[in-house]
Amino acid sequence: MKNILEAPFMVETVRTLTNLYRLGWDERNGGNLSVLLDEDVVAEYLDTGKVIREIPMTFDASSIIGKIFLVTGTGKYFKNVQYDPAYNLGIIKIGKSGKVAELLWGYTDGGRPTSELPAHLLSHITRLAIDPSHRVVMHTHPTNTIAMSLVHSLSERDFTRTLWQMQTESIVVFPEGVAVLPWMVCGTNEIGEATAEKLKEQRLCVWAAHGIYGVGRDLDEAFGLIETVEKAAQLYMLSVNAGIKNGITDSQLKDLAAVFGLNYNKDYLD
Ligand code: 13P
Ligand code: ZN
Repeated sequence: MKNILEAPFMVETVRTLTNLYRLGWDERNGGNLSVLLDEDVVAEYLDTGKVIREIPMTFDASSIIGKIFLVTGTGKYFKNVQYDPAYNLGIIKIGKSGKVAELLWGYTDGGRPTSELPAHLLSHITRLAIDPSHRVVMHTHPTNTIAMSLVHSLSERDFTRTLWQMQTESIVVFPEGVAVLPWMVCGTNEIGEATAEKLKEQRLCVWAAHGIYGVGRDLDEAFGLIETVEKAAQLYMLSVNAGIKNGITDSQLKDLAAVFGLNYNKDYLD
């Protein structure tokens, strides 16, 4: 068996979590991440039939039985992951009932997957049905995105339009727009189901006064989506009190969409 700490999926995940902490988005145990792994790849590092222990789940994941995920542990700090990946992360396989996670590696202190496992696994199920290449669900607490959710209309159209108006890249990176959920109790099946439903149409979902979810085919895509929202939200927060005079207009956004061939959400421009 090869050393799992040197597996490219592990190295990239640890680097990503370290970077998220460095950005100041994941205070304390804030944020969580799950990456769908290819069983053939995992088998180079682990006996995928050897279950360390079973962890019950409160929702039905029967459509992804047998799938294997690298998942951050609940209560674990992103800042510490690089120093002890096996303590802070786990590799789980969805067990036969679809209601249990079989631990294959990690959570060495007896820990468990993130409390947001419903949002992660239900979002994986949703995105895999849309795109078989989907792999990553990322949840983080970017400062300006949360700040914007405190002062801005939470209408998805209004929120997306403002993000698009702040910088050229926004509509290019997320032409479908950004979903927004009003404040809800986190860590529940309810918020997990609501998030997964939102991610049918978009790859980004803001949780008001909490954070954001982004999904992608790889870590870079999920991170890049969130990073672009956060940059636009920062521009908004920096300029809103001075009065925004030169935001990108609808007609300019349409020109941009035409040149870049963007399949943008037509309901969001006048
Ligand atoms: P976990 O520590 O359970 O992952 O929770 C952190 C968080 O961000 C909750 O939304
Ligand atoms: Zn959170």
